[in-house]
Amino acid sequence: MLNALQNIKEQAAQALAQVSDPKALEELRVKYLGKKGELTGILKQMGKLSAEERPKVGAFANEVRASIEALIEEKAAALKAALQEQKLKAERLDVTMPGKAAPMGKPHPLSKVLDEVGEIFLGMGFSIVEGPEVELDYYNFEALNIPKNHPARDTQDTFYITENVLLRTQTSPVQVRTMEKQKPPIRVIAPGRVYRSDAVDATHSPLFHQIEGLVVDKGVTMADLKGTLEMFTKRLYGEDSVVRFRPHHFPFTEPSAEMDVQCFSCHGEGCRLCKGEGWIELLGCGMVHPKVLSNCGIDPEEYSGFAFGIGLERLVMRRYNIDDLRLFYENDLRFLDQF
Ligand code: DAH
Repeated sequence: MLNALQNIKEQAAQALAQVSDPKALEELRVKYLGKKGELTGILKQMGKLSAEERPKVGAFANEVRASIEALIEEKAAALKAALQEQKLKAERLDVTMPGKAAPMGKPHPLSKVLDEVGEIFLGMGFSIVEGPEVELDYYNFEALNIPKNHPARDTQDTFYITENVLLRTQTSPVQVRTMEKQKPPIRVIAPGRVYRSDAVDATHSPLFHQIEGLVVDKGVTMADLKGTLEMFTKRLYGEDSVVRFRPHHFPFTEPSAEMDVQCFSCHGEGCRLCKGEGWIELLGCGMVHPKVLSNCGIDPEEYSGFAFGIGLERLVMRRYNIDDLRLFYENDLRFLDQF
């Protein structure tokens, strides 16, 4: 029996020396030390031994077990270390390898130009205010001198929530809301979304953006209006920009005008961009109507003001020579990536 134990000890040592993976190691452990393993098999026969032999064989069996256990432990540690080494090698970072660039988003062209416009007016001492997109008929029309049955309502058909609540057709109601809240001097711009029930085509969309402007103070004149808007245009399109004012009509300004900028492509000659006109329409403007001032509790005898409304989409289309409004809303990265 001592011989058998010696054999097991030697065989186990040999087998363990050759093991190279944790699974095979575990199999060997079961084979030699497990409940049905070889060592246990021998110990089970100890009952057959004489009282004299038994302690000797028992002691040796324990020694064999301890030596196999020690070898297994040693091997397990070695395998673990080798595995760790291998892992480290495989995962080593080559810091000199070129990085993978993460795709970078960028501002939408409408946001980009709106930011520029905001910066220009902030630089001229304006602040930025906002008003609701779901608006009362009173603010969108009535207070702006557009009573029910006024023909201006036909060109500004919109989406009605109830008879008196609608999606605003213009940012001009923010003029009224501002004057109700704030006493002059007032110098604000109010950018935002506006709505009209227009069918979608290259130049129309039921949702678009305007930037409203309002200045109210003592002694404000048309000269202030012209100076401010000319300055704005030069800042946006370049110092050599030329503007002109054409008489126009808006119910909430008197007198009213539209401002054109001389075509940057042909400088007034007439070309494709300006459709042969030489000029490109940029915005509507005028002196705030005395009735609008008094609607807001501001005395028109004491104060005067000017206002303007810029169509953001049109401004951006002209800036980048874009011929179809729908491109702004389609989220096609091939288009958006160009800005
Ligand atoms: N709200 C006008 C529109 O949508 C644009 C406009 C014109 C605004 C003249 C103004 C203004 O403030 O003075 O057609």
